[in-house]
Amino acid sequence: LNKLTVAFAVLSVTAGKELGAKAAVRKLPEGLQFGAATASFQVEGGWNASDKSPSIWDTFCEIPGKIKDGTDGRDTCKSYEYYQRDIEMLKFLGVDFYRFSISWPRVLPTGFADKISKDGIGYYSKLVDELLANGIEPVATLYHWDLPQSLQDLGGWANPLIADWFEDYARVLYDALGDRVKLWLTLNEPKQFAIYGYGTEAFAPNINSPGIGDYMAVKNLLLAHARAWHLYDKEYRQKQNGSCGITIASDFSEGASDSPADIEAGNLALDFEIGFYSHPIFSSTGGFPESVVKRVAERSAAQGFPRSRLPELTKDEIEFIRGTSDFYGFNHYSTRFYTAADYKPGMFDVPSYNDDVGAVSGRGDYVTAPNGYTTKISAGIRKALNWIKDSYNSPEIMIFENGYGDFGGIDDFDRIDYYKEYLDAILDAIEVDGCRITKYTAWSLMDNFEWSQGLSVKFGLFEVDYEDEKRTRRPKTSALWYRNLIASRVLDP
Ligand code: NOJ
Repeated sequence: LNKLTVAFAVLSVTAGKELGAKAAVRKLPEGLQFGAATASFQVEGGWNASDKSPSIWDTFCEIPGKIKDGTDGRDTCKSYEYYQRDIEMLKFLGVDFYRFSISWPRVLPTGFADKISKDGIGYYSKLVDELLANGIEPVATLYHWDLPQSLQDLGGWANPLIADWFEDYARVLYDALGDRVKLWLTLNEPKQFAIYGYGTEAFAPNINSPGIGDYMAVKNLLLAHARAWHLYDKEYRQKQNGSCGITIASDFSEGASDSPADIEAGNLALDFEIGFYSHPIFSSTGGFPESVVKRVAERSAAQGFPRSRLPELTKDEIEFIRGTSDFYGFNHYSTRFYTAADYKPGMFDVPSYNDDVGAVSGRGDYVTAPNGYTTKISAGIRKALNWIKDSYNSPEIMIFENGYGDFGGIDDFDRIDYYKEYLDAILDAIEVDGCRITKYTAWSLMDNFEWSQGLSVKFGLFEVDYEDEKRTRRPKTSALWYRNLIASRVLDP
């Protein structure tokens, strides 16, 4: 792409801008860095390269009917082969950092740390070297949902021993890459892999144990995360001089009306959607939110269970988990509205929520989702950021995902509008509300395998041609817009 094309595209973006939108351009705060994100299973392909073993998503994709468009993650964007091209794209955008994830079964083919794959580690080592050589900071997620199938065969996240396995895995990566990777994320979006994976059949590993298996996974993942953080804190922080934390899906929930019952429904949903995962780590008291403990206990009793379906955290466990993140990793896409009255099943209808949150609050829905995922309710991101700030004593917040899903097309003006509106609200959160936000990450660098939606839903700044053997990428108009935002450091809302 030559400079002229870029200049032209940037001009046409500006020309296409709706008149009457907010007039004032805004300078971006100095401390705010920009990045783009992907995840191993969604972009790498190379599903059986070298000694890699299958992950739970490889297995899941083989079950007929699981992936909406019948695609799978075997090849996807072929980043395993063509990662250098991804770095070219990142350079084109001018980002400060790249958030990618590491495939556990690629690095540890047995799942355990008895055998480290030379090729697996080698791949990530090259990726990290090349990023650094190009002045891009590597941000590595240890777990973005592709658990080794061998560990799932032993119970996966429902087995408490996963805390040992995860700690061992983390150590391998800190040892191999920690001299160069200075920002680690332990787990990506705990709710999504625990509740959807163990409480429904919508996500791998397809364990339909609503309100039981999913809650076991929640407890175990919190302990596993804490183990990986304590390991870093004790043995690596000083010599490697980096930081480590978790990133949590933090969509906002609120009452659909001003009625006290609806407001209460929205608040309860916030506790179940975000607080369930964040309260144990970020609150001053630790442990699950009281509202969640109470609700699940009441529902369990009403259903005839002799004890709560929510596993207890012991005093020691609460202490061990509390304070185990150097920053609040924040992923956000949309806002949902809850009413106390009617029950509206959402896109992923989670039975545990019917039993627990939903039975009382109704299940919230995105109001104007053109694609089932995201809406332009940018006010919600500011509220979510403030909820984190107020609930957890104003932690440093790093936004590790934000983006817009559609069904494709190079001229993605809706995506640009989405980014503009959300960034405008984020700047309000920083400048007006005093939220301490230091990183912003676009999801995603390129179109990729969107889990149970397969290749049909697209979030990329770059388009990927799946018909083409080489998976050629092309910048969408949003890529040109993002590049211009970063270069000019001005938001023109
Ligand atoms: C959350 C997940 O972390 C990511 O894998 C997914 O593709 C995006 N949201 C969009 O749904």
